[in-house]
Amino acid sequence: NMGAEGMDVQQQILHALEKNGVVISNEFAVSEKETHQKVVGAIKSLESLGNVINVKQIALKTWECTDEGNNLATSGSHEARLFNSLPPEGRSLTDIKASFPNSNFALGAAMKNKWLKKEGEKVIPAVSAIEDEVQIHLKAIAAGGENSVPDKIKAEYKKRKLIKEVDMTVFEVSKGSAFTTSVMKQEAELTKEMIESGQWKGKTFKPFNFKSKGRIEQRSGYLHPLMQLRSEFRQIFLEMGFTEMPTNNYVESAFWNFDALFQPQQHPARDAHDTFYVAEPGKTISVPEDYLQKVKKTHSSGGYGSIGYQYDWSREEAHKNLLRTHTTAVSARMLYKLAQEGFQPVKFFSIDRVFRNETLDATHLAEFNQIEGVVADYSLSIKNLMGLIKGFFEKIGITKLRFKPAYNPYTEPSMEIFSYHEGLKKWVEVGNSGMFRPEMLRPMGIPEKVTVAAWGLSLERPAMIMYGINNIRELVGPRVKMELILDNPLCTIDKWTPTGNNS
Ligand code: PHE
Repeated sequence: NMGAEGMDVQQQILHALEKNGVVISNEFAVSEKETHQKVVGAIKSLESLGNVINVKQIALKTWECTDEGNNLATSGSHEARLFNSLPPEGRSLTDIKASFPNSNFALGAAMKNKWLKKEGEKVIPAVSAIEDEVQIHLKAIAAGGENSVPDKIKAEYKKRKLIKEVDMTVFEVSKGSAFTTSVMKQEAELTKEMIESGQWKGKTFKPFNFKSKGRIEQRSGYLHPLMQLRSEFRQIFLEMGFTEMPTNNYVESAFWNFDALFQPQQHPARDAHDTFYVAEPGKTISVPEDYLQKVKKTHSSGGYGSIGYQYDWSREEAHKNLLRTHTTAVSARMLYKLAQEGFQPVKFFSIDRVFRNETLDATHLAEFNQIEGVVADYSLSIKNLMGLIKGFFEKIGITKLRFKPAYNPYTEPSMEIFSYHEGLKKWVEVGNSGMFRPEMLRPMGIPEKVTVAAWGLSLERPAMIMYGINNIRELVGPRVKMELILDNPLCTIDKWTPTGNNS
């Protein structure tokens, strides 16, 4: 907001420009008796108007008073002070030497200037009035008007440590292509009244200052960086028309976590070394019985064109409670529900916590968040899956993708997703994907012609990359620094460049 005074200086600068064609900020400050800072402020405001003025920066050496110099500028030189302290009849030399500070210097200088003379023991005025040039010079230098002081004198004052040389930036202002002496106060806001009255047409508006640091607001609640990133990923899925799945059940049965996904009961991932089983309550209350029977049959003897795994499927094993090891357990529940309610095409996503009995290290914790996308429709193919994945990763700024054949018990085909990392100059794994197997979908009651494409990745991996964290313990747990949370930018996702393995 421009004060009236600030406006005045701007006007003065414009008039001076019209008259002289050029204004040098420091000289202008001296001639107009303004501080240099105020003149520079006015120049900056005029500069922001567009092409009214041209501004060139000049680095200068200039002079500044030392503390002693400022003292003399305010109170006068020693010799002048001595002259002014003397009565017309003078004082004795001993008296002056005993009572006047810096008397030797003051006496010497005053004599040299012929202001005082000796008469026997006494010092008496030799003139009726004096002009204190030292004070005048120092005052001029203090106000930036050093040009009025001869170089020889400046050299002498420098030797006496009354002034010192300093660096200074001054601005040379000339007329711009849109030069005018009548600048209007720029409006900072377009108001309802301006629009209604049509006044806005005649106004000029202050340009947005995108370099402004903004105001530090009262600090209130902040999202943890991981949760912020989660909300950004959530936004991407929502933009792509996906619906979020309910993921609020960390405790899951082995049935939904593994069996429903056609993961055999002997599979190593089901081992207690890889999965946390729940001791109390150790068993799930119930699983839909007719569906369980179909799952049992598919595992033990096959169906839907498959011969299954050919083993004795155990209800006991399926009823065990565990901490879900992936969010695909939720996808299984949702697809089953969808089939019961009458299938229609869907796009689902989830972002939530999963648990694995891992050896903890710099990049692995026993719990992390998974991002999962699931699309169910008639006759989807792997081509659609790859397109979906491309679209999703493009939204987070990843364009170079490659797919590598992989194996998951519940998808066929399965593909690991790799992205080219510009920094590391190599392909790094960023996710896993596949088409859900008929052995998983058909027992649920999903219609024949329907296929389901799905992909997943961890939330922590991109988070570590975006926040530049190498040790996951700095992102989760008591070692998280408050600054990370408080100074976290509002939007992080555009910074995501993958650097490593996803799981
Ligand atoms: N569930 C897989 C994992 O835990 C990810 C995945 C999801 C793979 C969907 C294929 C399809 O890594």
